[in-house]
Amino acid sequence: MILPVYTYGHTVLRKETEEVEQGYEGLSQLIDDMFETLRKTEGVGLAAPQVGLPLRLMVVDLDIIADEQPEFKGYLRSYINPYIEETGGPLVPYEEGCLSFPGIHEKVMRPSRVRVSWLDNDFNEHDEWFEGFPARVMQHEIDHLDGKCFIDRMSPLRRQMLKKSLSLIQAGRFNCDYKVKLPKK
Ligand code: NI
Repeated sequence: MILPVYTYGHTVLRKETEEVEQGYEGLSQLIDDMFETLRKTEGVGLAAPQVGLPLRLMVVDLDIIADEQPEFKGYLRSYINPYIEETGGPLVPYEEGCLSFPGIHEKVMRPSRVRVSWLDNDFNEHDEWFEGFPARVMQHEIDHLDGKCFIDRMSPLRRQMLKKSLSLIQAGRFNCDYKVKLPKK
């Protein structure tokens, strides 16, 4: 089932998330729905708060860019209770977008490498370093699980310049090809 994406202005995007407990009812269906939603939006990552759930859960689909980058063929991963354990490498710029901020693409600085711990769908523990594009996606999505959004990582000047666009998003005045849920006025 395709879920509506919660856009900027929803308080759920600013909440600390709860860890997913083993036996959480409907977890595998939820993960399937998040993958289906992500594919529909043509995004590469989706965090549970973006579908209205304050849960420490996210999915990543890099298979969608496998035409240009064949190393990502079949790269569909779900992460339960992921945490950034360590970062490394230089801070690097990259132009990010976010499904909760339709139309906004801005350069964000982040470390080039990141070590993440998480549980897989069987609740087995993992701990791995990510680099390159996957490191970028992990950091963006895990921020969502900490109530942070990419606009928080931009310079105050850039944020100031985006003020108008942000208020239009909040008011629901934007175009996008996927189903969204606007915040209540
Ligand atoms: Ni995002």
